[in-house]
Amino acid sequence: MRDSIEAGPPFFSVLGSRRSVRGFLPEEVPARTLEAIFVAAQQAPSWCNIQPWRVWVTRGEQTRAVVAALTHAVDTEAPAPDFAWPSEYPEPYHRHRRECGLALYSAMDVARDDRAARHEAWMRNFQAFDAPHIALVAIDRRFNHYAMLDLGCWLQSLLLSAFAQGVSTCPEASLATFPGAVRGLLGIPDELGLVMGIALGYEDPTVKANGCRTARAPLDANVRFVG
Ligand SMILES: Cc1cc2nc3c(=O)[nH]c(=O)nc-3n(C[C@H](O)[C@H](O)[C@H](O)COP(=O)(O)O)c2cc1C
Repeated sequence: MRDSIEAGPPFFSVLGSRRSVRGFLPEEVPARTLEAIFVAAQQAPSWCNIQPWRVWVTRGEQTRAVVAALTHAVDTEAPAPDFAWPSEYPEPYHRHRRECGLALYSAMDVARDDRAARHEAWMRNFQAFDAPHIALVAIDRRFNHYAMLDLGCWLQSLLLSAFAQGVSTCPEASLATFPGAVRGLLGIPDELGLVMGIALGYEDPTVKANGCRTARAPLDANVRFVG
């Protein structure tokens, strides 16, 4: 029981049931529902309540334009994220990362040595897994890691609010690989750095990738109760 969140208030089951979805139906989320989700996420805490998240949410033609720009950039540009990606994953993070990849590729029936299929799977990131909506998330470049913490609080609030409304999500750092491709398209000012994107929409249960389930380490790997 110590590592389980089955027991507890209904909110615990929201926490335990949300997962990343990597295959969406084309049906758009009604504008009012989408807005309600983002209004709820506005309640996220932040350092001195500075609320540093700046977000562009697409639908329809704008989603298609972002996907077209990103998939073109993958073929023609070198990755140039505004915020550097981790350069190494020492243990135990490397193991967690490998297990995450294995869970996804095995759900997709992609063999470890099938480079073409792995490339195809990687490319799905830039198609936002066919989601009808993409939220692109930026932050003032002058801030440091504390504003990133604020953004993390907002992100989880958004993911859970969406889930509670029956809307699936996939947070995607990959959508920030080519900021130059989307900055002009959406009018993101230069003083903001692109941190990530979030695919939003209704889950397509027939997509194999959506069978992926990730595990969590036992509590004592992360938390010590002292005294
Ligand atoms: C900041 C952040 C960036 C992520 N970037 C990606 C991404 O680019 N592509 C992807 O498929 N999943 C991405 N994910 C999803 C994680 O792989 C996923 O949250 C993790 O494996 C745990 O699985 P779960 O969300 O289903 O619980 C990202 C998650 C976070 C929080």
